[in-house]
Amino acid sequence: MLRDIFAEKRALRTGASGGIGSCIVRRLTASGALVGLVARRRSPLEELQKEIIRAGGTAIVAPADVTDRAALLGAIDTVRDAWGGIDIAVACAGTYVRGEVMDSDPSIHEDQWRTSYLGTLYLFQEVIPAMLERGWGRLGLVSSVIGFKGMPRESAYAAGKAAEAGMAGILRQELHGTDVFLSTVHPSRTDTPMIAALEVPLISRKISPDRVARALLKGMRRKKPYVIVPSIGPRMLWAVEMLSPRLADTIVRWFRLSGWITGEED
Ligand SMILES: NC(=O)c1ccc[n+]([C@@H]2O[C@H](COP(=O)([O-])OP(=O)(O)OC[C@H]3O[C@@H](n4cnc5c(N)ncnc54)[C@H](OP(=O)(O)O)[C@@H]3O)[C@@H](O)[C@H]2O)c1
Repeated sequence: MLRDIFAEKRALRTGASGGIGSCIVRRLTASGALVGLVARRRSPLEELQKEIIRAGGTAIVAPADVTDRAALLGAIDTVRDAWGGIDIAVACAGTYVRGEVMDSDPSIHEDQWRTSYLGTLYLFQEVIPAMLERGWGRLGLVSSVIGFKGMPRESAYAAGKAAEAGMAGILRQELHGTDVFLSTVHPSRTDTPMIAALEVPLISRKISPDRVARALLKGMRRKKPYVIVPSIGPRMLWAVEMLSPRLADTIVRWFRLSGWITGEED
C-alpha cells in the first residue's frame, strides 16, 4: 500500500479550532501527521486534542493570537521544541465582518489585515527557512472566493482575503525549484460558526467545511497552486469578471451573492 505523504509529518495549523480548521486537523491526523493546534482560545483546542489522542493521534496545543507576532512565534517554538521541526504549515485563522467601504471604521480594516495578511505572513516567514534547509515542506492557505471577487458589504473581509492570496501567489513563485510548495484553497460560503448568521441564496448555498479541508489537502498532495471549491460556479463568476466586470457585478446583485443577515438594513 502507498504510504500517505503526510504520515509522520509534523504539521502546524492556525485557526485549528474552527469549522474548516478542525476538519483539516482531523484529516491530517487520519493521514498519520502530528498536529500542532494554534488559535486564541485554549479550551476548544484542548477538546480537539483529546479527540485526536482518543483516536490514536498526536497533538500539541499552542494557543496564540496570530496578530501578535511574538505570541505566534512562541507557539511555533512550542511545536518545534516538541518535535524538532515543522514540515507542514496551514494558515486558516480568520474572522468575518460586514461593512461597506465608506461606512466601516478603518480599525475594522486594520484588524482584518492583521489577522488574514500579517498572521499568514508571520507564520510562513518563520517556518519556510527550515523547510528549505531540510528540502521538503508543504504550506496551505485558506483564502476565499471573496479573495478574487469581492462582494458588497464584505469590504474589509474581502481585502484581507485578497491580500493573503496575493502574497501566496508571489511566495509560490519565489519557492519555484524547491520542494517547498504552497497551495491555496478558495472556498465559497462554508457552513461554519463564522457565517452562522449569514443567509445565502440557493445558488451559493453553504458547502461543508470537510469538503474544503479535503480539497486543500488534495491540492497540497498534488502540488496544485490553488483549488476553488466548488469548482464550477466561482470559476464562471471569475471568468465573467475578467471579460466583463459590469456583468459580474450585475450577477452579484441579481443573485444577492453578498448574502444577508436578518435585520440588516437594505
Ligand atoms: N465560512 C466561510 O464561509 C468561509 C469561506 C471561505 C473562507 N473561509 C476562511 O476559512 C478560515 C476558517 O474559517 P471558518 O469558516 O472555519 O471559521 P471559524 O469556525 O470561525 O474558525 C476561525 C478560526 O480562526 C481562529 N482565529 C480567529 N482569529 C484568530 C486570531 N487572531 N489568532 C488565532 N486564531 C484566530 C478561531 O479560533 P479563536 O477564536 O479561538 O482564535 C477559529 O479557530 C478563515 O480564514 C475564513 O476566512 C471561510
